Amino acid sequence: MNIGIIGTGNMGGGLGKLFASKGHKVLFGSRDPQKAKTLAGSIGPNASGGSIAEAARFGSVVVLAVPWSAVPESLKAAGSLAGKTVLDLTNPLTPDYSGLAVGHTSSGAEEIAKLAPGAHVVKALNTVFAQVIGGGPEFGPKNATALYAGDDPAAKETVSKLIGEAGFDAVDAGPLQSARYLEPMGMLNIVLGYGLGMGTSQVFKLMRR
Ligand SMILES: NC(=O)c1ccc[n+]([C@@H]2O[C@H](COP(=O)([O-])OP(=O)(O)OC[C@H]3O[C@@H](n4cnc5c(N)ncnc54)[C@H](OP(=O)(O)O)[C@@H]3O)[C@@H](O)[C@H]2O)c1
Repeated sequence: MNIGIIGTGNMGGGLGKLFASKGHKVLFGSRDPQKAKTLAGSIGPNASGGSIAEAARFGSVVVLAVPWSAVPESLKAAGSLAGKTVLDLTNPLTPDYSGLAVGHTSSGAEEIAKLAPGAHVVKALNTVFAQVIGGGPEFGPKNATALYAGDDPAAKETVSKLIGEAGFDAVDAGPLQSARYLEPMGMLNIVLGYGLGMGTSQVFKLMRR
């Protein structure tokens, strides 16, 4: 699958590397295409780099991996995402990272869907630290849970397969409106990891029987 990744930071870089290792073609899109090319070069032949618009055009799946404050400008630079599956892993944090800027009656993911008409937005991986993606989703015999939510069944299936193949226990959390609950869960992860000093090599695990 061709995957465009907007953002070359901890999440974008780590996820791109993971997807490329599973045989997908990844194109990183950056405000600085040279930076994206350098990152791609460090990963190998399945990765390439370019502009944000190039990443958006390249991917049938486009991953949005930028800070919340940069979402509007990144979507503008991307151009039309109509018909694409947009994997939104952002957490809509306030500028000082102390809380969420959106919630209760909407979510970052729903706001992104409004800004990207025709895109099939799927919220996923916002509850997983970049260090878990980098270190691999396997915790001994157990696999990290990655909850996802969206309104388009085909897009959800695509994301589920993608993150499942990457090693996560992919769990359907319902419609895109469930991002209203996934984003606070992402915030809780930050509180546990940073605020309470539990670190970032931790992940939520959904247990079932
Ligand atoms: N880090 C985590 O563990 C984690 C976990 C779950 C969710 N998230 C969410 O994932 C998203 C990305 O987080 P991250 O940790 O990967 O952040 P990061 O390391 O700071 O990377 C963000 C990337 O976004 C791009 N970008 C575009 N416009 C930007 C701007 N105005 N200011 C700064 N960067 C800009 C940059 O790439 P270019 O310079 O190449 O354009 C940058 O490398 C955030 O929304 C975050 O809340 C993070």
